[in-house]
Amino acid sequence: MNRFLILSLVFISKLVSAQNPLPLIPQPQQIEIHKGTFTLNKETVIQPNYNLAEAQYLQKSIKELTGLDLKIQSAVNKQNRIVLAHSEIKRKSNDGYELLISNKKFVAIYAKTPEGFFYGIQTFLQLLPIEKKDKISLPCLSILDYSKFQWRGMHLDVSRHFFPKDFIKKYIDYLAMYKMNTFHWHLTDDQGWRIEIKKYPKLTEVGAWRNGSMIGHYTDQTFDDIRYGGFYTQEEIKEIVAYAKERHITIVPEIEMPGHALAALASYPEFSCTGGPFEVGKTWGVLEDVFCAKDETFTFLENILTEVIELFPSEYIHIGGDECPKVRWKSCSHCQKRIKEEHLKDEHELQSYFIQRIEKFVNSKGRKIIGWDEILEGGLAPNAAVMSWRGTEGGIAAAKQKHFVVMSPGSHCYFDHYQGEPKNEPIAIGGYTNVEKVYSFDPIPKKLSADESKYILGAQANLWTEYITTPAHAEYMLMPRMAALSEVLWGTSNPTNYKEFENRLIQHFEMYEKNGINYSKAIFEVTSKVNPAENGVAFELKSVNPNGIKYTTDSSEPNANSISYEKPILVTSNQTIKAAYFENGKAKSATIEQSFFITKSTGKKIELVHQPHENYGIGGSFTLVDGMKGNPSKYGKDWLGFSGKDLNATIDLGKTETIDKVILCVLESKGSWIYYPKKIEVFISNDGKNFESVSKLNLSEIQDVKGEVVLEVKSKKAQFVKVIATNFGKITDGNPGAGSDAWLFVDEIGIE
Ligand code: ACM
Ligand code: ZN
Repeated sequence: MNRFLILSLVFISKLVSAQNPLPLIPQPQQIEIHKGTFTLNKETVIQPNYNLAEAQYLQKSIKELTGLDLKIQSAVNKQNRIVLAHSEIKRKSNDGYELLISNKKFVAIYAKTPEGFFYGIQTFLQLLPIEKKDKISLPCLSILDYSKFQWRGMHLDVSRHFFPKDFIKKYIDYLAMYKMNTFHWHLTDDQGWRIEIKKYPKLTEVGAWRNGSMIGHYTDQTFDDIRYGGFYTQEEIKEIVAYAKERHITIVPEIEMPGHALAALASYPEFSCTGGPFEVGKTWGVLEDVFCAKDETFTFLENILTEVIELFPSEYIHIGGDECPKVRWKSCSHCQKRIKEEHLKDEHELQSYFIQRIEKFVNSKGRKIIGWDEILEGGLAPNAAVMSWRGTEGGIAAAKQKHFVVMSPGSHCYFDHYQGEPKNEPIAIGGYTNVEKVYSFDPIPKKLSADESKYILGAQANLWTEYITTPAHAEYMLMPRMAALSEVLWGTSNPTNYKEFENRLIQHFEMYEKNGINYSKAIFEVTSKVNPAENGVAFELKSVNPNGIKYTTDSSEPNANSISYEKPILVTSNQTIKAAYFENGKAKSATIEQSFFITKSTGKKIELVHQPHENYGIGGSFTLVDGMKGNPSKYGKDWLGFSGKDLNATIDLGKTETIDKVILCVLESKGSWIYYPKKIEVFISNDGKNFESVSKLNLSEIQDVKGEVVLEVKSKKAQFVKVIATNFGKITDGNPGAGSDAWLFVDEIGIE
């Protein structure tokens, strides 16, 4: 038994799960603070046992952070040293480590794998001060740590916008800092093919360049005509893969098929159903020209995958599989012949055939496929893993079929969503996923048994870049949400004590600033919640410190002398409240603003027959009577979204009221598959059981008023009001998302 092992055993016996005052993220599993300090100075040496590579990484990092240029010496017998020592002590995962900062004047990192050392080093680096110093005093402590989930991932879309090699390396460093271990590199899509393939040079000569891009939000439909593009050579990819490997990060490359293939088809139109010609996509969304299911396409894709597999040593190869419209296949003789010959039921089974055939090929190369959750449709390929993005249902279904799953639901894991008040943020695709939401994520759905849960490999967040054009903007969307995700995946998050995490997180902001990492300060923004109250609503405000909130009720900009927030503000008439967070007399956040629309329905009891989708229904049914209309240009947190289902809401006004009109806000954004309802009908009742129809509008009448629909009731008396908005149904051909269920987005139901 070696010396270090003895030390470790002593250490184990004293473990406690202490309240951690140190700014470590992800929070270690167990930590104990001891008396005394250790001084790191220029005399300190690094002593590696086996792990020279990790020792060199530590040496380089300490130099960058502190300026101290420490020596590496393998056989020293002095106190002032940092030892990396092998230890076989059992831990829950292979990447465990122990970090001991001893009052016997040494630091030790014990681990049994290179990852373990690397994570121990990351923890140690987070303890260093952020200014350059030649004497650093560190608290004596012992930490025992290991990960919970084996897939701790971040994705980056480099097709919609291209990010240069040096930024990809930075991105990998950010992942490493937070002990993330998987980088999902989305290399191909309609708007650009970004990986050099030697056998098919046109993929990058043609497919990596587009003659213009969408500017502004999708809903604006405006474009520039600037040639845009870029790609990574195979040499660059090898360099990046090696860089990631040194940081114990696996890169999972994604080659999209059978949809999102327009850049490939613009280069080689012979692999489409129609033969083209095509242009590399300029518009975001889901496009109809996809790979044709003929043999030649499979040969093409297999040759591409052969080169991809040689470049990337990952166990999994991501083959996309999402959002593949079936229109071209419906009228293609090759595809129809395939359906007949393979005895497939329809085009959905053809998609499944496509993926299964590719899976066989990838398996023959000793690798596995992973795909977006659409690969469940028409039958899952036998060995495929599923990435669940349209909620968690796909992941649940796959785990129940004993397939491995990576959770990545839009609700918690789409970092292209807004993270603060939309009007204060750079334009984003929509949604609302703030740091607290990310932190509350549990990758293991309650619906799974303990056995089924074993199939959840972990989770990842996705960074789609339609609206993210620069590295600085990508950093802004990443940080600090990734820090929150890292703690979820490491397995030490405690959402009931979010404030404790927030305290540690704010301490990381200084480090971001020192290292020039652009990050979002949205956590300082005032957030609000409305609750039902007598004759209106109570507007509750929160920020990192509620004592710093100042607000106005007369539409003026709040300043240090405005009203100090003390308790929820009672709102019983139409007004606009503006609030911001102040520290030392200075605004530390942008202003939030809320206009109230108070009617007879505000704050009243409301029941829904169908529940909204989990991604667009955080506030539940009360959202419809909370006195706040959703922002029509951004379908963030204020809206309820129903996928394929109707709105069927009954409001109990509490007593008989005279009703003149019912107002319903609805949204249309066809590119996002959101459609106006086919019909809206209002019913009234005095007993809540027998309802009488009193007003009705059809689709063309709804389209005419664009969003805020008024249904005239004309002085009728009732206590109960029912509103039914009928979902548009299946999206019609020729539109984005054709054949899929339309979304119905509704917000306020006002009654006057
Ligand atoms: C996806 O977001 N289309 C996977
Ligand atoms: Zn075809």
